This record gives sequence, C-alpha cells and structure tokens, in this order.
Amino acid sequence: MEEKRRVLLLGASGYLGSQIYQELLRDNTIDLIGTCFSAQAVHQLLRVDVTDTLSFSAILHEFSPHVVIWALMSATDERELIEKGLDVLLSQLPEKSKLIFISTDGIFGKGTGSYREEDPPEPLDGRNLIATYSNAKIRGEARIRERHPNHVIVRVGPIYGRNCVGQWDKRVASMCADLEAGREISRTGNLYKTFVHVEDVGNAIHELLHGSYHGTLHLGPAKKESYYSFYKKMALALGLNADGVKETLLTEAEALERGIPLDTSLRTKKAHELLQTRFRQAGWENGNENDKGV
Ligand SMILES: NC(=O)c1ccc[n+]([C@@H]2O[C@H](COP(=O)([O-])OP(=O)(O)OC[C@H]3O[C@@H](n4cnc5c(N)ncnc54)[C@H](OP(=O)(O)O)[C@@H]3O)[C@@H](O)[C@H]2O)c1
Repeated sequence: MEEKRRVLLLGASGYLGSQIYQELLRDNTIDLIGTCFSAQAVHQLLRVDVTDTLSFSAILHEFSPHVVIWALMSATDERELIEKGLDVLLSQLPEKSKLIFISTDGIFGKGTGSYREEDPPEPLDGRNLIATYSNAKIRGEARIRERHPNHVIVRVGPIYGRNCVGQWDKRVASMCADLEAGREISRTGNLYKTFVHVEDVGNAIHELLHGSYHGTLHLGPAKKESYYSFYKKMALALGLNADGVKETLLTEAEALERGIPLDTSLRTKKAHELLQTRFRQAGWENGNENDKGV
C-alpha cells in the first residue's frame, strides 16, 4: 500500500484552519495533524506554540511532514510568529516538502487595486492598525521565496461565511448582532476588497495540496466589492434588514491620515484558470442571485 502523505496543518483551531481541517479529514490519502495554541476543547488537535523554538522543532522532527499548511495569525504578535516560528519551520523543513503559506491582500499597502501575483508588495503605513501584521506577512513571504522553493503562497482578502464547524467570520457576526438588535451600521462605500468565502478557500487549499503549482496565487471571485456593497448583500442574503446598512465614504485625506489603502482587490484570473474550485461572489452563488452565496 502507498504511504499516506503526512500533512501538518498549523492553526487548525482557527476560523479558516477549522474549515481546512474538516475538509482534509475526509481525504483518506493523507495522514493529518492539526495544531491549536490557546483554544479550549480541541481534543483532536496538538497544542503547539510555534514561537517556542525547541518544542516546535521537536514536532517537526517527529512528524516529518510532506506538506505544511501555515494558517496562523496572531492578534498580539504576528512579528514573532514570522521571526521565530517561520524561521524554525524554514530551517527544518526538508526541501521536498511543500509549504502552503496563507498570506493577505494587506501586503498591498498603496491600495491601487486589481493586484496581480507578480506585483511587488508595498509596506503598509505604520499608522494603519494592521501594519505590524501585514508587514510581518511581507517579510514571511520574502523569506519563503528565498529559502524554500517548494511553496505556494496563497493571498486572500477578507474571508467570510459560516465555516463547517458553524463559526461565522467576525465581520458578518457583528453585522448580524447589530441588525438583529435594530441598530444601524455604517460601512465604507469606497474601500474595496476581494471578499472570499471560507468554504471556497478550504477547497482551493485542498486542491493546491495535491496539485503541482508552485509560487504565489490570489484566491477569490472575479469582482471586487466595497465594504458597503458586501454588507448590504450579506444582510439581504441572510434575510436581515438591509436598509439598516448605511454608506459612508472615506476622503482621500482621511485615508492618508490613517494609512488606509483604498483598494487592495486581487486579480484572481490565474486561480480561476488553474483550479477546479469556483469562487462565489458575496450574496450570490454560481451567478444565480436566488442561490445565495452565504
Ligand atoms: N480571516 C481573514 O479575513 C483573513 C484574511 C486574509 C488572510 N488571512 C490569513 O488566513 C490565515 C487564517 O486566519 P484566521 O482568520 O483563521 O485566523 P484565526 O481564526 O485568528 O486563527 C489563527 C490560528 O493561529 C493559531 N495561533 C496563534 N498564535 C499561535 C502560536 N504562537 N503558535 C501556534 N499557533 C498559534 C491560533 O490558535 P488558537 O486559536 O488555538 O489560539 C489559531 O489556530 C492566517 O494566516 C491569516 O493571516 C485571514
């Protein structure tokens, strides 16, 4: 019998990681280990702090994975995840093993939109609240390119939807709480992103794990959305009061002042050509308005 491929999923307790974990559990060609860090009641998962160099090294040595998926994010110190955790991973991972690293549209700090895979990253202005996170991702990507050619760097915009363990993304969850309580919400009409459904990202990662593609890939539907149009469509799709979603606009001066790039949408043509996975547009599925992509 052929040896199963050993897959180490770092961040299996997270919002996206839970989706990928459940998706990969159904694949009987792989031997899967998923990790958690601080989450409670995650009995199937291995507790790992990737910034604890010794214990993380020992796990990598013991499991010797054919594929590692990096679905990590730190609310407190993304820099440490990259400087310490990713460094350990890159120094231990055998050349033949594949690394799938989940990155972000936040690496395009100028915000001119419709970014291609080959466009160079643009550091985010330090005044932006997620600058530490995005700029650490830029360094992470650069290190992976230098040190581990057998990689796929996947970039995504905001991920949304209910994952297969029933968890909603924070953005939609907070919208639901407000609208259900009768509170209006304001969202920016001139701030654009490529919103991508959590299930579609999970499917794409599964495909990439088995596929031969190497390099950077942008995932998501073809069309960008503003925050306002995204929330409005989601409210409608969920049967909530969409009139409670109000539009605000960000002036260029305000955006500059707060270091906010106005358009970090991704060009996703390559993924559409390469993958079988189809990426639904928010509030729509397969182009059919009645089949809601929520
Ligand atoms: N969500 C989005 O909209 C979005 C957009 C663009 C890119 N991404 C990327 O997608 C990936 C997944 O994001 P997510 O939204 O699923 O994040 P998340 O829900 O915050 O999950 C983060 C994961 O990282 C783990 N973690 C944190 N610190 C760790 C440490 N020191 N050692 C080991 N594990 C640690 C967490 O474990 P515990 O939960 O057990 O503490 C959790 O499993 C990330 O790479 C993120 O950058 C997400």
